[in-house]
Amino acid sequence: MKPVELRENVWWLANRSESLLEVNIYLLCYPHDKGQANLIIDPGPPELLTCLQKAAAPIIGGLDKVHGILINHQDPDVAPNSAYIQKLNPQCMVVASEDTWRLIHFFGLKASRFKAVESYRHHRAIMPGGCRLIFVPSPFCHFRGAMMYYDERSRILFSGDLFGGLSYTADLYADESSWEGIKTFHQLYMPSRDALKLAVSRIRNLDPPPEMIAPQHGSIIRGGLIKTFLDRMYNLDVGLDLLIAGEKEENYLGAVNEILAELEREESSDALAKGISALNRDKSFTSVMTFANCRVTGFKVDPPAAVKTLLDHLRTYGGIGLESLVNLVALKILISRNIPVSDILPPSEGQELPDYFE
Ligand SMILES: [Fe+2]
Ligand SMILES: [Fe+2]
Repeated sequence: MKPVELRENVWWLANRSESLLEVNIYLLCYPHDKGQANLIIDPGPPELLTCLQKAAAPIIGGLDKVHGILINHQDPDVAPNSAYIQKLNPQCMVVASEDTWRLIHFFGLKASRFKAVESYRHHRAIMPGGCRLIFVPSPFCHFRGAMMYYDERSRILFSGDLFGGLSYTADLYADESSWEGIKTFHQLYMPSRDALKLAVSRIRNLDPPPEMIAPQHGSIIRGGLIKTFLDRMYNLDVGLDLLIAGEKEENYLGAVNEILAELEREESSDALAKGISALNRDKSFTSVMTFANCRVTGFKVDPPAAVKTLLDHLRTYGGIGLESLVNLVALKILISRNIPVSDILPPSEGQELPDYFE
């Protein structure tokens, strides 16, 4: 693919390689009285260096005409070419957060040609020609020092890995079907929903709002899809959220089956079967959990609510022997698994002390 001019003086440079993880590289040109300043955003890995040179040559004459490089974070798909470009133009400045610099300088970048985002007043730079470039931190999306760059002139937000997506098609611009690739990428690479919420809020607060979100992977988002995808991203469970949810469900599954096994040993499988079948007595509605051979195989609702419902049914329909055992056995097993008892068991009522304890 040839370079694409997204807006006047803003170019998408990188190639499409039929990879699931396509890398986007952007070039911003700022004409001014005495010439033109050229910036590259996230110049990518060495394997894209020749592709980058070929793409940049017809627009600015070559990579030695790059005067500045903006870096979102330190990853190997994002930053290494900055060192080669700085060799071609030793005056080329690198701009990134302090946290990112601490890692990217190992690529061989010159400290004397680094400017920290934090050193700009009000997180903004006035570019040659007078346009503003706004720095928008997106901590933990996915690196703590990740920095988005908002070109106010073109109203394009360069968002790094945030809003990056797996490429199931080679399309440069996103459509509704792009969400699946974006969702999967974020679930794999973003650490937590809270980090996404913070970054999405910052994008929503940009004034004027961006007309394009240009990520470092996948397709560029524009038009009405920006709001749609921001809303979805705000509520997306990713990384640790998914890990914790999965572990929580497994812990509840283990606990409820341990409870059932102990009740079966202490009382009888008949009593269990009665309690369990009571759960399914109303055939018109689905049960809160699935069973096989008097053991729970999955939850259809929030695990604490499902376990509570099952124990209630065992107490009520499992016969007198089970009724007296359910709370005791459940208490022991829930506590051993660090599961909050109060969500599942009825509060104990306590009894008045007899006279001789007074
Ligand atoms: Fe990354
Ligand atoms: Fe990336």
